[in-house]
Amino acid sequence: MSRLNNKHIILAISGGIAAYKSAELVRLLIKAGAKVQVVMTSGATAFITPLTLQALSGNPVHQHLLNPKAEAGMGHIQLARWADLVLIAPASANVMARLAQGQADDLLTTLCLATNAPVLIAPAMNQAMWKDQATQDNLQTLLGRNIQVHGPASGEQACGDTGSGRMLEPSQLVSVLNAQFDQGLLAGKTVVITAGPTREALDPVRFISNHSSGKMGYALAQAAKDQGATVILISGPTHLTPPEDVTFIGVNSAQDMLLACLNVGDDADVFIATAAVADYRPAKVSEQKLKKQNADDGLTLELVQNADILATMSAHYPRAITVGFAAETQDIITHAQTKLKRKNVQMIIANDVSDTRIGFNSDDNQVSLVTANGVESLPLLSKHNLARQLILAISKLSK
Ligand code: CTP
Repeated sequence: MSRLNNKHIILAISGGIAAYKSAELVRLLIKAGAKVQVVMTSGATAFITPLTLQALSGNPVHQHLLNPKAEAGMGHIQLARWADLVLIAPASANVMARLAQGQADDLLTTLCLATNAPVLIAPAMNQAMWKDQATQDNLQTLLGRNIQVHGPASGEQACGDTGSGRMLEPSQLVSVLNAQFDQGLLAGKTVVITAGPTREALDPVRFISNHSSGKMGYALAQAAKDQGATVILISGPTHLTPPEDVTFIGVNSAQDMLLACLNVGDDADVFIATAAVADYRPAKVSEQKLKKQNADDGLTLELVQNADILATMSAHYPRAITVGFAAETQDIITHAQTKLKRKNVQMIIANDVSDTRIGFNSDDNQVSLVTANGVESLPLLSKHNLARQLILAISKLSK
């Protein structure tokens, strides 16, 4: 039986050509057993008639906030309480802007403010409108408020342009809604995540390391936990507090990190390598503190390569979905594609570390998801919001 059976779904439709797909979406939701109430903005009615949606949903369509007749039946507060989930599809640039501002000047926006149910949006608009900074800022605001954003997809648009801005197909949206009523997208799965820097000792007091803050890995651990996963976080030294209810294993060197990963590898359904692992370590660790030599003498260190933890895990545990990061300064996608193959992993999350907005210690990041099926670029997001989007994408990967 579909997980949507008997679920109360409000489908809110805003004005855009993709509104024609909403009829099919209602049909699929009803077929899956959901109870559907449709809310339309006045713009939406220019693209599809309320009568069509009434016939398909089996319920009168809600259009007006201040209509005494409508409010006497199921008014906006009753609707808000009735809903198990609110989906806005298509969500126009205008609706995103009004939601971001917290406006309550029509039924749709008022309902979103009044409901405790999860609100999901499926944006659809011209590619230039989607890319516009104002829309991207609104997107950030909405994600920060826990509004889930699904899509847009990329491709040919009704206006003749090609790019990102197409509404997800009705069948994809039904899958997204189904997943909402799971205990979580990763329920029953164990996710192992490496994070932070490693420290490669030279002597008892000195080490070689890097600037990794660990923020991305810790945010992913939280996001995986939120999706019901059992999470094991294996981290080099950071200033962060591990999320609650996560098994935390603190390590120092790349060799420690590898051992810790191998110890839990059998349990891993998903392995995500966010750690900035030192590629080399000193060939010899001095037992005593190294002393300065003669005044003019330099010091030559011999380094040996550390094992690639990600590649080792993908080779040893073929059952696990493996995901890596690639911090690059040039030819980002090409390098990421090479790493995808070389490390034999399902996804490389690539970012441009020469971009100062998204460096190692910043709170924001902009990445491209590189898989065998192609490349998907995400907008600039806070690491917290990005982690949620990445976990959604990772939960869809299969081998
Ligand atoms: N990684 C790892 N073990 C290593 C080195 C890297 O697990 N010894 C993982 C990182 O956690 C990351 C991915 O591999 O997920 C890519 O790391 P990166 O440093 O970009 O790649 P390298 O393989 O080190 O290649 P290069 O430094 O030549 O770009």
